[in-house]
Amino acid sequence: MNILIKVLVFFFILLSSSYLSSSSQQEPCVKSVCAIREPEIRFPFRISNRQSKLCGYPGFDVSCGKKNQTLLNLPYSGQFTVQGIDYASQEMWINDPNNCLAKRILSLNLSGSPFYGGYNQDFAFFNCSSDFSSYGSLNSIGCLSGPTFWVFATASLRVTEFLSPRCQLIGTFPVPVDWPNYEEVLSSELSDHLRLAWDVPACGRCESRGGRCGFKANSTKEVVCSNVPETGIPRTARYAVAVGVGVPVILCFVGLLCFICGRVKTFALRNGPIAEFNSTVAPQPTIVMGLDGPTLESYPKIVLGESRRLPKPDDKTCPICLSEYRPKEILKTIPECQHCFHSDCIDEWLRLNASCPICRKSPERATPENV
Ligand SMILES: *[C@@H]1O[C@H](CO)[C@@H](O)[C@H](O)[C@H]1NC(C)=O
Ligand SMILES: *[C@@H]1O[C@H](CO)[C@@H](O)[C@H](O)[C@H]1NC(C)=O
Ligand SMILES: *[C@@H]1O[C@H](CO)[C@@H](O)[C@H](O)[C@H]1NC(C)=O
Ligand SMILES: *[C@@H]1O[C@H](CO)[C@@H](O)[C@H](O)[C@H]1NC(C)=O
Repeated sequence: MNILIKVLVFFFILLSSSYLSSSSQQEPCVKSVCAIREPEIRFPFRISNRQSKLCGYPGFDVSCGKKNQTLLNLPYSGQFTVQGIDYASQEMWINDPNNCLAKRILSLNLSGSPFYGGYNQDFAFFNCSSDFSSYGSLNSIGCLSGPTFWVFATASLRVTEFLSPRCQLIGTFPVPVDWPNYEEVLSSELSDHLRLAWDVPACGRCESRGGRCGFKANSTKEVVCSNVPETGIPRTARYAVAVGVGVPVILCFVGLLCFICGRVKTFALRNGPIAEFNSTVAPQPTIVMGLDGPTLESYPKIVLGESRRLPKPDDKTCPICLSEYRPKEILKTIPECQHCFHSDCIDEWLRLNASCPICRKSPERATPENV
């Protein structure tokens, strides 16, 4: 019953927030996508042959490929597919269109682009004449290996020490990874995407306040933030309203369910006493005790690759919305306990409850004074 209530509250909040935010005005630069399930493209990105030059910042041009994939061209490293974009945290996730990311890492050079690796981790690449795949959890890189040689990449010191005397070192390369190095196991193998960040244009704050970033009219230099919803009800208050209305409605609904159950029971028992209903289902005032935007933004995020590998391989479904994780979805973890959720789900949750929905640990606030 507890889970049912949580799910109902969650969907109610989702519904009401999308209803409340659907009233924004039309804009000259409309967002676009290469295909459904591809990342949404809006300022500072633009699809070069569909959106006007004024709709994107220099260096952020993407295009749509033959298979409708979103493609980004890096000046010294060539073409990558864009797996996901987080406009608020100013990050994106890219992969190799030919599914050999390891090969691309060997020649990765981000100069001339606005992007950099937020967390770089050094990976040693080895060319071995024996297959060490049977040793522990090592996996050879299929697309770089041949019938008589096996290529391995590792960030683990233990594995590096093991391979050094046995193989030829190709080199050590900095890889823009998802996570800062938490655990040896996590970091020892390459992921199936690279995480890149950008600093300019700094639209993150505007985005997380629900605004729309773009060039000032007829300018291709000055970036402004518009359409921040502050004339109406502020964003946080909208959630408070949603909860204030949603919780009593759901409590009434649950009350009604109990009533019906009680009636059925009473009928079944025939001569049992008539069920009593007291104030346990009366609406109660709700106090909203959630986390603020900057704290939420500070949590580590990942985009799921095709392999859907999670930092903790314990769960395949989001505990909040109960739906299975799918490739290209953005996930977030709570640093204090490493539990994983859909980024949107946990954001909604933490704005209302400052504790992990699974273990009830309370994450720390980034800066209490700017709540
Ligand atoms: C790409 O999208 C178009 C419509 O937008 C569709 O007709 C076409 O089948 C898609 N191609 C692929 C390979 O998915
Ligand atoms: C990246 O490419 C540029 C231009 O060719 C070059 O000047 C720079 O040294 C390269 N950087 C690295 C790390 O190789
Ligand atoms: C690995 O070594 C073999 C020869 O032992 C060579 O043919 C191959 O190109 C090397 N691969 C890489 C990625 O260096
Ligand atoms: C902006 O550009 C449009 C068309 O390019 C032009 O009609 C308009 O007068 C310009 N506005 C200003 C303020 O320069």
